[in-house]
Order: sequence, then C-alpha cells, then structure tokens
Amino acid sequence: MTILVTGSIGKISSRVASQLQSLSLPILVATRRSPSSIPFPAVTFDWVDKSTYEAPFKHDISAVFIVPPEIQEPAPYVNAFIDVAIAHGVKKYVLNAGTSAAKDGPFVGPVWSYLDTLATSKNIEFAVLRPTWFNENFSELQHQQTIKESSVFYSAAEDGKMPFIGADDIAAAGVAFLAGQKPYENKDHVLLGPQLLTHDEVAKVFSEALGREIRHERKDMQGMVKQYESVGLNALYANFLPYLEVTASQGSQEELFVAGLDETEKLLGRKGINFKDWVQREKSKGYWG
Ligand SMILES: NC(=O)c1ccc[n+]([C@@H]2O[C@H](COP(=O)([O-])OP(=O)(O)OC[C@H]3O[C@@H](n4cnc5c(N)ncnc54)[C@H](OP(=O)(O)O)[C@@H]3O)[C@@H](O)[C@H]2O)c1
Repeated sequence: MTILVTGSIGKISSRVASQLQSLSLPILVATRRSPSSIPFPAVTFDWVDKSTYEAPFKHDISAVFIVPPEIQEPAPYVNAFIDVAIAHGVKKYVLNAGTSAAKDGPFVGPVWSYLDTLATSKNIEFAVLRPTWFNENFSELQHQQTIKESSVFYSAAEDGKMPFIGADDIAAAGVAFLAGQKPYENKDHVLLGPQLLTHDEVAKVFSEALGREIRHERKDMQGMVKQYESVGLNALYANFLPYLEVTASQGSQEELFVAGLDETEKLLGRKGINFKDWVQREKSKGYWG
C-alpha cells in the first residue's frame, strides 16, 4: 500500500515524503519534473493535465497527500483527480490548506467541501491541515533573498503577531494521519507554532542569531505586491500574501492562537519548534549569508 504525495519536492511535500520513508512506508511523489531527478520514488503528474491522472495508480495507492496547484481555482482539477482516486479505491486524503481556508470559501474551499460530501456519500476519510505562516518563508521563500543580500525583509504585517510554524511540524501533522498514528476525524486542524512574534521581533531574533543587524521594513499592500513580484512570486501569491499580511496586522493569527485552536501538540505529541530554535538550527545552511 503506497502513499501518494502530491506537491513534488515542495516545502511540505518533501518533508512528508521523507518522514513517511523514515517510517518505512512506501511512497510515490507526484511531480512535473523528471521523476529520476528527485530523491524519492516518483511519477510524472500535472494537476492541470488530466492525462497524467491515471499513472499513479499503476501502484497500489492507499492515501493521498494533496497540495493543490497555485492557480486561482484549483478545485475543478483537484476534485476531478479525487474522483479518479476514489475509482481506484483510495479512501484516505490529507489536504494541505492554510488558516485562511474556509469550507465555503474560495481557492481550496471547494476541495474541502467536496471531501466533506464524499465522507458521507463515498465513505472516504479526510483531514484538512490549516497551518499558519511557515518559518520557511524566511529560508526558502519570499524573505530569504533580501535577508541574504541586504539584511532586510519587508511586510505589510505591521505589528501583527504571528505564531510562525516549522514545515517539519506541518509535515509531521500530515504524517500522523497518513501513517495511521491518528484517526481521521473528517475535519480541519489549525496548526500554529508555539510562540507569537511580530515581524520586528523576528528581525531581532535574526540579528542576534546572525550577528548582524537584520531589519524589518514596513510597506503597504501595493508596495508588498511589487516586492513579492520582484523576488519571483507568481501573480496569485504576490497579490494574496500582502492581503494576508494585512489581515495578520489586524489580528487574524493572534486570535487563533489566543483562542487555543492550535492542534499541533495534540497531533505531534510534542510542541512544535519555536522560531528562535529554528533560526539557530538553520543558520549555518547558507540561506542568510
Ligand atoms: N508559505 C506559507 O506561509 C503558507 C502558510 C499556510 C499555507 N500555505 C499553503 O501551502 C501550500 C504550499 O505548500 P508548499 O509551500 O509546501 O509548496 P511549494 O514549496 O510551493 O511546493 C509546491 C509544489 O507543487 C508543485 N506544483 C505546482 N504546480 C503544480 C501542478 N500544476 N501540478 C503538479 N505539481 C505542481 C511544484 O513542484 P514541481 O514543479 O516539482 O512539480 C511545487 O514544488 C499553498 O497551498 C499555500 O497556500 C503556505
């Protein structure tokens, strides 16, 4: 029985794949890249090319980890693939979403609501992961380049407090379901880090760890769209992330933390890594110079 991991060797999927492998569970990673170029058993797969949907099922797939494609409306593709997986007898699904996701909302909302319907009509089981902002935004995504090159990062988050979470911990939450360590409850799971930090406080953590001043510079939403375009984010994310930063400045992430909605410790059996320890762990890897 093989677990299909979509999302290629992206931030969460690469960690899900390697954690499942270390539990000796068979995996198959779905990727647009050449399968031989990635360090896992892999199959060619493109969410927006339905001719690639059958190939994974040459293997005996028992569960699917879903990272939707970065397009405005992924549901028509993802739901069509779920139909194919169900036709092949797959009953277990873990969907990677975010704290802003809602079952009746846009983007992944229609995937979540479809899984919800299928839990009744087709007896499938599912979990929706709703992680907050990743620590890895500072090492693998929008802030890495400017920290390395100019000792600065930018945001529209102002003094919004965020419970940054490590990608290893998000992956471990998914693995808890995929590996059968936790029962599926057919619901969403908010995943937050153990500590609230503003972006100014993040800059201080970096300054202390790296031994040079790292600054957080504030920009408005339009300024951030341009900033994110300049570091290569696609149009969807260059526009969406600044909007989410503004909602964080208004307390969206702090509210989840204060309300005690985090399920990370419950799913992992331990607390997630805190941001300071994460920076210490990662600082010799060359991300930040
Ligand atoms: N960053 C954050 O703070 C944050 C917070 C909460 C939620 N999220 C959510 O997390 C998700 C992103 O996860 P991530 O950061 O692990 O992703 P990621 O690192 O961006 O990787 C996603 C992978 O998906 C693959 N992919 C893209 N389009 C595809 C397509 N059409 N068909 C097949 N594969 C495709 C790409 O791999 P190949 O090119 O190799 O195929 C890519 O490496 C997003 O849905 C985001 O909204 C992010």
